[in-house]
Amino acid sequence: MKIKTLSLSMGYLLIGSLLFVSCLEDRVDLTKVSYTDEEYAILSQYLNIPQARASFQVEFPLHMTRTGAVVPDIDDAKATLGSVLFYDKQLSANNKVSCESCHKQALAFSDDVALSEGFNGQLTKRNSLPLASTPNFESSYNGNGNAFFTGLQAGFFWDERAHSIAEQSKMTLEDEIEMGVDIYELAGKLSEMPYYRILFEKAYGSPSATPDKITDALEVFINSFVSVSSPFDEGLDRHQTPFADFSNFSQQENLGKTLFNTHCNGCHASDFTGLVETVANNGLDIEYEDKGLGERTRLEFDNGRFKVPFLRNIALTGPYMHDGRFDTLEEVIDHYSEGIQDHPNLDIRLREGFNNEASPTRMNFSEEEKAALIAFLHTVTDDKFVQDERYADPFK
Ligand code: HEC
Ligand code: HEC
Repeated sequence: MKIKTLSLSMGYLLIGSLLFVSCLEDRVDLTKVSYTDEEYAILSQYLNIPQARASFQVEFPLHMTRTGAVVPDIDDAKATLGSVLFYDKQLSANNKVSCESCHKQALAFSDDVALSEGFNGQLTKRNSLPLASTPNFESSYNGNGNAFFTGLQAGFFWDERAHSIAEQSKMTLEDEIEMGVDIYELAGKLSEMPYYRILFEKAYGSPSATPDKITDALEVFINSFVSVSSPFDEGLDRHQTPFADFSNFSQQENLGKTLFNTHCNGCHASDFTGLVETVANNGLDIEYEDKGLGERTRLEFDNGRFKVPFLRNIALTGPYMHDGRFDTLEEVIDHYSEGIQDHPNLDIRLREGFNNEASPTRMNFSEEEKAALIAFLHTVTDDKFVQDERYADPFK
């Protein structure tokens, strides 16, 4: 009897929440996300965006929702504005670069050079990070995802110096090498531009741009990047654990997965979603020219420690490491196989004896094992994501 009441009330709960969802859907203010003919005529001079609503809503696969990851609630008007800002060269001091110049969609929003060119042709200090390699930035930063259980939070940049994408965007816009603008002057300039006046009005209820609105809209757009349609996700949804052999994988890919779960998942998560470790020294050098976290904290202990990158879409995002020293995944695997250096801060997970004096691990993979690891790393490529029109260049 009790059970029956319970299931009955569960039923009501379900109907209730379905109603709630449809109400939410109805509550989207269409005046914010579609344009009058007059507005659209102005936008159409510059942009290729639909007159009616463009939806940035995203879905998570089962394997993510099961871990408690919360789908971000994306405001379509802000994301639309963010997409225009992201692709607009007017955001740099001399109108030469946009965010996209160093974060290209076809490359999962990374760049194909070790160091990228900023507005003046000067090179960035580090390798551009992909913006699509985590299922969703908001979920990892806010500690949803699997980080829910480990309590870890990811910061942004190779030394995790930014705490949000809004903060990161401000630093990037004002960076002397990257975009070189004064963000207040930029806000003034955008406030005069006809297409921005419409887009800011839709997103924030007033046509003028401010530094906070600019960085917030960029954050909303980037939080809508969710890359979860890879063969790996399909396998994980089907088998519910990354440790089973996946039926949609070849024998070689399954061997690669087993090797990854033996040697790599101490830092890079087995489900390619959660956070196991935020920063580590993976033994690239004995002497680091760029001290990473150590440059910022000035602590000896932090020298050579860098963000543990998310590895989604990794086959698309070379060159690799903070300085782009490795052009190919072959070189990355060779590093872990026989090249790990005995830096005093080398992570204990990459030492033989699991103590600070033990020598660096020599994984000594055979050629067959190296090929298997690389084949496995190709299974997290998300073709749908890199072709998704919603994230494409909106300019004509
Ligand atoms: C000139 C090249 C260049 C431009 C332009 C550029 N970026 Fe970047 N971006 C980089 C580099 C290089 C890094 C890594 C820098 C570091 O870690 O010190 C990076 C890192 C990031 C990160 C951190 C990702 C992570 O996983 O930690 C985000 C987010 C980001 N950029 C977004 C943007 C946005 C938004 C814009 C436009 C406002 C932009 N970038 C413009 C080169 C660029
Ligand atoms: C001790 C933690 C740790 C372990 C274990 C580890 N990594 Fe890493 N990995 C890192 C860190 C930290 C970086 C970034 C280092 C840097 O750029 O200075 C990195 C970078 C990478 C990159 C380059 C990512 C990019 O966007 O440039 C790949 C690919 C990679 N690791 C694959 C692997 C594989 C495969 C294994 C197992 C054979 C492995 N890692 C084991 C910590 C680890």
